Amino acid sequence: MDHLTIVTHPLVQHKLTLMREKETSTAVFRQLLREISQLLAYEITGQLEMTTKRIETPIQPMDAPVLDGRKLALISILRAGNGLLDGMLELIPSARVGFVGLYRDEETLQPVEYYFKVPDNLDERLVIAVDPMLATGNSSAAAIDKLKEAGATNIRFLCLLAAPEGVARMKEAHPDVPIVTAALDEKLNDQGYIVPGLGDAGDRMFGTK
Ligand code: URA
Repeated sequence: MDHLTIVTHPLVQHKLTLMREKETSTAVFRQLLREISQLLAYEITGQLEMTTKRIETPIQPMDAPVLDGRKLALISILRAGNGLLDGMLELIPSARVGFVGLYRDEETLQPVEYYFKVPDNLDERLVIAVDPMLATGNSSAAAIDKLKEAGATNIRFLCLLAAPEGVARMKEAHPDVPIVTAALDEKLNDQGYIVPGLGDAGDRMFGTK
């Protein structure tokens, strides 16, 4: 895959606009995130390894395509990653799931780890790390560091919105990790928020402030 894929599908773009609007309610925001996550998951899983399985249709036997290899691993970067995870699990119900808990120190903007739990045999799985907002890229790059330390070698990163700074940071730290996003916004502001963005994704999906 290319290092950066922007999913320009009209449904994704329309839903993203609704999510950006500040009047959009928590319930609608969460529902839209669930829907978009499935469209992004469709894109990021587009080139999975396939094999065939012998089956019998009501008409005749055939060698039919099925996914090959170990179940893939979805890794939610807490807490906002959970908003993408739920929808993706509906599409890929047999995926294994892990969590990386990082919060961003509001002063330094650097990631601080507080939780790490991932599936075994990460080295044999496609690992998809999910976090709605790729802002500075510091948390995402740190999460990918941890996944590589845990053995992951085939990693992709899925987000809803990316800032150029975050994409550059990820490219520098993890050039082997393709990124799939719905939009590449203009920049970060002084507080590290994506501009024009959608605000704090975690607050908007969980109704906190
Ligand atoms: N995290 C968010 O939730 N929003 C941003 O704009 C940047 C980081």
